[in-house]
Amino acid sequence: MEPKVRSASTITMTQIVLPFHANVAGNMHGGEVMKLMDSAAGVAATRHSLSNVVTASVTQLSFIEPILVGDLVLCKAELTYTGNTSMEVYVRVDAEDLNSGIIKHVCEGYFFMVALDRNGRPTKVPPLLIENEEEQRCYDLARKRIQHMKEAKSKSQNC
Ligand SMILES: CC(C)(COP(=O)(O)OP(=O)(O)OC[C@H]1O[C@@H](n2cnc3c(N)ncnc32)[C@H](O)[C@@H]1OP(=O)(O)O)[C@@H](O)C(=O)NCCC(=O)NCCS
Repeated sequence: MEPKVRSASTITMTQIVLPFHANVAGNMHGGEVMKLMDSAAGVAATRHSLSNVVTASVTQLSFIEPILVGDLVLCKAELTYTGNTSMEVYVRVDAEDLNSGIIKHVCEGYFFMVALDRNGRPTKVPPLLIENEEEQRCYDLARKRIQHMKEAKSKSQNC
């Protein structure tokens, strides 16, 4: 399979926060933010693999600052790593206060997506073509996260 560059699948999805996305205090629900992040990760992974994808797991999800009703949410998803059938997608969320123009970094997380064939079985994905030192750094960190996750999974079986 031909390697593909990160920029070919990177996407930014945007959404205005409306009252029905929020709690009574006017803060966007965490679940709504996660849904948008998952959608963006899914689009990036689908663009890269040209396959149906599912979310296998999410790590290091952090809610850093609240997002308020009226904010414009900018959700950027970019591939950091490809395995055989899996991809890691880093999703960064910023919120823009449209009245002041101030943009805050509000949330981030890493989504592991797995490409599936027509029978719903994991299928190979094109390798990620690393273009610079920053992408190499992200790739190396992703490999460590995956290793760590696999070790934690084997230790926590059935408990
Ligand atoms: C994700 C899923 C397809 C993996 O199936 P599986 O039979 O365990 O597949 P395998 O063991 O062959 O693993 C396939 C790949 O997934 C990765 N994987 C499996 N479980 C994972 C997890 N929890 N987190 C991250 N990656 C995972 C494996 O490391 C492997 O990657 P690689 O091919 O790059 O080395 C399966 O568990 C599934 O369908 N889960 C439900 C997904 C879902 O419904 N998501 C919500 C809606 S989108």
